[in-house]
Amino acid sequence: MSRDGLPPYFNISPDAALAELDPPTGTGGFAAIAEACRRGRDDLAGRGLDEAGTKRLRLFSTWEITKYLIPVAPGHFRRVLRENPGLPQGRSETEGGAKWFTLDEVLRLRAHFGAEGSKAKEYLPYRPQGLPAKIVAVANFKGGVGKTSTCAHLAMSAALDGYRVLVVDLDSQGSMTSVFGARVEDEWGTVFPLLARHYARHLRVDNQRRMDRGDQPVPLDETMTEALKMTAADVIRPTHWPNIDLIGAQLNLYWSEFQIPVWRMQSRAWKLWDALSDSLAEDGVLDRYDLVFLDTPPALGYLTINGLSAADILLVPLGASFLEFDSTGRFFDMLHATFASIEEGENMAARALGRPELAFEWDAVRAVVTRYDGGQQAEMASLIGAYLGRTLSPYRQDYTALIGQAGEAASGIYEADYRDFNRETYARGRATFDETYAGFKRLLYGTWRRDARAAKAAAQVAE
Ligand SMILES: Nc1ncnc2c1ncn2[C@@H]1O[C@H](COP(=O)(O)OP(=O)(O)OP(=O)(O)O)[C@@H](O)[C@H]1O
Ligand SMILES: [Mg+2]
Repeated sequence: MSRDGLPPYFNISPDAALAELDPPTGTGGFAAIAEACRRGRDDLAGRGLDEAGTKRLRLFSTWEITKYLIPVAPGHFRRVLRENPGLPQGRSETEGGAKWFTLDEVLRLRAHFGAEGSKAKEYLPYRPQGLPAKIVAVANFKGGVGKTSTCAHLAMSAALDGYRVLVVDLDSQGSMTSVFGARVEDEWGTVFPLLARHYARHLRVDNQRRMDRGDQPVPLDETMTEALKMTAADVIRPTHWPNIDLIGAQLNLYWSEFQIPVWRMQSRAWKLWDALSDSLAEDGVLDRYDLVFLDTPPALGYLTINGLSAADILLVPLGASFLEFDSTGRFFDMLHATFASIEEGENMAARALGRPELAFEWDAVRAVVTRYDGGQQAEMASLIGAYLGRTLSPYRQDYTALIGQAGEAASGIYEADYRDFNRETYARGRATFDETYAGFKRLLYGTWRRDARAAKAAAQVAE
């Protein structure tokens, strides 16, 4: 209410409004605003950096390690360290104070307990031998539903759990890239060259056929020639997490959305949706890592299609609100239409030639309620659950003030130092992401076990 008791939109004086108005904005105005944002962002991001300007991961205390990371009693943990002076011994801030370890050290300790400790305990997470990494895509064409937060937290949980993780940022907004403190120069530091190489290799084969038929080949341009020299190793970069690597994104990655359809027009037989998965597989990425997490943009463009088609597990975050539920329903509609039309296009030819038909398949698809407020959204969430059934992950990720405000240095709960928060707030915030990870890990174990059984059955048939 304004002073005279009326709502605030009455009694505005046009002259007063004019007096406080700035001149009209031209195109250059956007540049000035962007520059202001960039300076602010660098200021904020810079606060979490060390002298060399890189992000550094915090240390982990004995309390945290024995409570969350390596399931042993603190007394036993200390005893094992004493008995094995070759193991990392940690450092303390005060004489006789708590011991703190880097994540690298935690990983070495975990490996030690895994090799020497009780076989009855799960020191090392399940990963069937000889099977490829699982690729996990987090997607929804609705913006701001928690894709990046969910994807980043899952990647960090999995890394804390001992998995070797690759994170791929398919969003030219580069949010995930910022989470991992990376700076990507241009599209050549993103997945773009891997997609271009896939097309270039296809085009070389296609050109051979064209020439055999007496047709003109399509010349390989400079982009393709460059891309043919590159592998995943050229775009994978380490992060401040010892067991998380990153393929980053940057604004220019958006160019792919225009380039991919042009390539496809040039050569209709190019399977554009396989470009990412084929490239990762060919370059041995699926052997070097246990898990590959793909963060996708809020759009169902060619990058998202590539991500979805590469994925074994698809997670679709949504908030428990009518608008997000409604829009998520349409996202699934679009997924159906998109992949059905790809299958249809491929299978007309396949049927005619008597070749096996293309059928996309995902190990598991789950919608995940994010930013859940139990006080306000319980009814909406159970309604969503009633309609989605098993497709809805049973665990709802709570809204937590710890995200986004976890200190300038930290991206999310796992990077935050628990001493900066009230214990209870920290425990609750952490618990909700631990539960999200637990739900994901059950899916992962189930799908890997299914694959392992199938591989065993296939081997028996072969004998
Ligand atoms: N569990 C949570 N509790 C509180 N805030 C959250 C939670 N998860 C996400 N957020 C906040 O919601 C906002 C959107 O999250 P996020 O960036 O992860 O969404 P997104 O789907 O990746 O967005 P985009 O579509 O732009 O890529 C961010 O400000 C983030 O900090
Ligand atoms: Mg995002």
